[in-house]
Amino acid sequence: MNLIAVSSHQPVTAADGCQDPVLLNDWHVVGYSSDFVAGTIYPVRLLERELIVWRSEDGSIHVWEDLCIHRGARLSKGWIKNDSVVCPYHGWEYNGSGACTLMPAAPDEKPMKKAKAFPYSAVERYGFVWTCLGEPAEDIPVFPEWDDEVFMKVHSGPYPYAANGFRAVENFIDASHFPFVHAGLNGVMDKPDRLEPYTVEEVDSGLRSSEVRVFQPWGDARGKPLVAFYTYHAFRPLVGYFSKRTQDSDTEGNVISDQSDTFATLFTVQPLDAVNCIVRVCAAMNVSPRPDPEAVRARADVVFGQDRDIVESQRPERIPTELRYELHHRTDLMGQRYRTWLRNKGISYGVI
Ligand code: FES
Ligand SMILES: [Fe+2]
Repeated sequence: MNLIAVSSHQPVTAADGCQDPVLLNDWHVVGYSSDFVAGTIYPVRLLERELIVWRSEDGSIHVWEDLCIHRGARLSKGWIKNDSVVCPYHGWEYNGSGACTLMPAAPDEKPMKKAKAFPYSAVERYGFVWTCLGEPAEDIPVFPEWDDEVFMKVHSGPYPYAANGFRAVENFIDASHFPFVHAGLNGVMDKPDRLEPYTVEEVDSGLRSSEVRVFQPWGDARGKPLVAFYTYHAFRPLVGYFSKRTQDSDTEGNVISDQSDTFATLFTVQPLDAVNCIVRVCAAMNVSPRPDPEAVRARADVVFGQDRDIVESQRPERIPTELRYELHHRTDLMGQRYRTWLRNKGISYGVI
């Protein structure tokens, strides 16, 4: 039985792919706002469903099932005409509200009421396009630095991972891999950080850790050694975030300045299916002077490339939310709590 509260107007393809109500009723990023320009239809994949994204002349964004209700042709093979989507099979035209306005084989007849596209909720926020395939259970998570002008924002990615989205998020909220996966950047392989005990609590915005202290020889795009204090969040099952407070240090990791800066990152995952995803991130930083955005992106490309390589190697591909399947140390508390949190939400898709 389908537990999702949905309108009766559902594509037959809704029976395919993910049926997990928690994920279907959540918001997922399907691209950067800048990816989508008016006049073109863009196919995207989400939770094994084929969708289209298109933008009207007035700037509004649409996410629809990639399906024409007439005979099931893919709208992504069609085109835009008069600010409407034209189906490539029999030329039916759908306007921005999803209504069919023309059936060319009967141009004088008003299209049937049921002749409609299958639109989903679509919102642009933080430079991303978000969609929800069901009924949104909550609003899109808050990216605290987004509206603060003091923070420079830099988007990076997309980073396709041939890996499970939850594995990708868990990697993002894991501090003990830095000296190995990001040796020379976020940690030192010959001198791994000793992680002091930290706590994780469930708050309104999700799961949040207390500060985790690490030494980073190349902690951000400025290339300076830093001591970083990470506060990790899992806002949603597939949206992570950290805020790291940084202080300048010497090359041995001794703090040399009282001044703290903040570098935050919103980490979004578009689950294509249970074992493939696309990561897109937006960093926010208040360092002065502002770094070159290209340098920020270049560093993110390296770091997320390193993460991708290791996450793609993890087996089983689906994250075990039953703790007994892998081994958890106190230094993994954030990941351990994340898995339990997924389990308590009742997530059944993409997990074992
Ligand atoms: S299948 Fe789309 S118009 Fe016929
Ligand atoms: Fe990493």
